[in-house]
Amino acid sequence: MSNIEQTLSIIKPDAIERNLENQIKEIFKNKGFKIIKEKKIQIEKSEAEKFYKVHETKPFYNDLCEYLSSGPILAMVLEKENAVLKNRELMGATNPEDASEGTIRKKYGISIDKNSVHGSDSVENAKIEIEFFFKD
Ligand code: CMP
Repeated sequence: MSNIEQTLSIIKPDAIERNLENQIKEIFKNKGFKIIKEKKIQIEKSEAEKFYKVHETKPFYNDLCEYLSSGPILAMVLEKENAVLKNRELMGATNPEDASEGTIRKKYGISIDKNSVHGSDSVENAKIEIEFFFKD
């Protein structure tokens, strides 16, 4: 049975700054993801705080929110069979040092903060995160 899902992907400021946007989009498309929606924006720190609310008790929360709001990002809705898990596999481990060969974070990530991409971690969170960026 098919299980087409949507997930939220963000190309983070470090990757936009290095002009990696098109290369990363090509990787998604070559792996069979459809880019259903996309929006290039810069968000306020207060919006980043809302987006990353699940991490609010973590020691890295403040830096994380500063960082996500520090420059333009590209938010995308990706669609594919089992998109949530497939996107997480393609991104690789959160820390680029631990990411496997062939993953986006291995190829482009600089550090655990500047890890180039974000992807929803569950179908439930994907719905919330898509709504966050694409309400209208
Ligand atoms: P992301 O998938 O966007 O979700 C939360 C982000 O927090 C994560 O990617 C990392 O960039 C960042 N982060 C910073 N420090 C840590 C940490 N120690 N553990 C997990 N995530 C971290």
